[in-house]
Amino acid sequence: MFQSKIAGIGHYVPKNVYTNNDLTRFMDTTDEWIQERTGIKERRYADRLEETTTSMAIEAAKIAIERAKTTAKDIDFIIFATLSPDYYFPGCGVLLQREMGMGEIGALDIRNQCSGFVYALSIADQFIKTGMYKNILVVGSEKHSFALDFSTRGRAVSVIFGDGAGAAVLQPTTETGKGILSTHLHSDGADAEKLAMYYPGASGGKGLENRPEWPDQELGGMFVTPKMLEDGSAFPYMDGQAVFKKAVVKFPEVIGEALAKNELTPADIDLLVPHQANLRISQFVQKTLGLADDKVFNNIQKYGNTTAASVPIALSEAWEEGRIKEGDLVCLAAFGAGFTWGSALIRW
Ligand code: UT7
Repeated sequence: MFQSKIAGIGHYVPKNVYTNNDLTRFMDTTDEWIQERTGIKERRYADRLEETTTSMAIEAAKIAIERAKTTAKDIDFIIFATLSPDYYFPGCGVLLQREMGMGEIGALDIRNQCSGFVYALSIADQFIKTGMYKNILVVGSEKHSFALDFSTRGRAVSVIFGDGAGAAVLQPTTETGKGILSTHLHSDGADAEKLAMYYPGASGGKGLENRPEWPDQELGGMFVTPKMLEDGSAFPYMDGQAVFKKAVVKFPEVIGEALAKNELTPADIDLLVPHQANLRISQFVQKTLGLADDKVFNNIQKYGNTTAASVPIALSEAWEEGRIKEGDLVCLAAFGAGFTWGSALIRW
């Protein structure tokens, strides 16, 4: 059986920088509030019409493919993680396949929000291990800026999120003890509604407090009604404190699970690359695990929370900065909507 390794990693962030002060033009917020609660100083927003979730993913993918010393034509499977797809359907995977001129290969879109990349990596790892594929492109990309409420009503959510993309190419390796050592995936739907975008959707408002007025007809209807647009219920909802409380428990737990599985301890970690949810969450996790500052990578200060893109952007940037060397033990971990969470332990 093969092991899989990350043969190449790349990222792309749009050039438009929005500082916290820039956001005060749209909503009642302050640089001080945002930095104190989240650590974020600025984030990037895609060009509204020229850039898409797919186009950003392609930019990241080109770099990852080149660094993996392969070509788009040689990619044999695509896994695309996003919560902000170009279309409700089909997913971004086929759009990327088309735009990059790839063969008629499988393209899988996954919807696991902040833990999307870790889930995608785990799926790719299984396909490589069984020998089914040999050159898998895994991407996480988000264009949040198109679907956030930039009025004061939406400030608790909109100040946190940013746009960008990251990608990795997974290939088999026969080097013992190298590559992805293990991945660990979890979910608990009990709090599914605590971090969610309810509409467009087919729930009909079932189970939701603010059940909207639906068109009075026997069949059909609308995914989004004018009322939802007016009252803001078509924007993402987040119970920030509930997410925070769960995240600070589940991050250390799932990292501990990965270490235990490989008979390792936190002291063995060379670099922890956590999903960039909130700098306070990462600092809490660091403290719980007793890791030194140089063992944890954070770049949320520059990019905000880019959901499925955050882990691959951070991993790519850490690699570019020389923070990851051959033989290092790298731990990826993520937690987000669902709730879903996961980790991956990699011997680089
Ligand atoms: O990737 C996973 C996704 N999400 C997360 O990881 C998020 C986890 N949660 C968090 O990061 C934090 O809960 C937040 C940063 C989202 C919010 O921080 P908080 O300390 O939980 O604040 P809060 O929501 O309890 O709000 C405190 C106050 C409220 O005012 P009152 O009711 O005390 O008068 C809010 O209206 O802060 C107000 N507020 C703001 N003020 C200025 C909320 N958003 C803003 C804002 N600017 N952007």
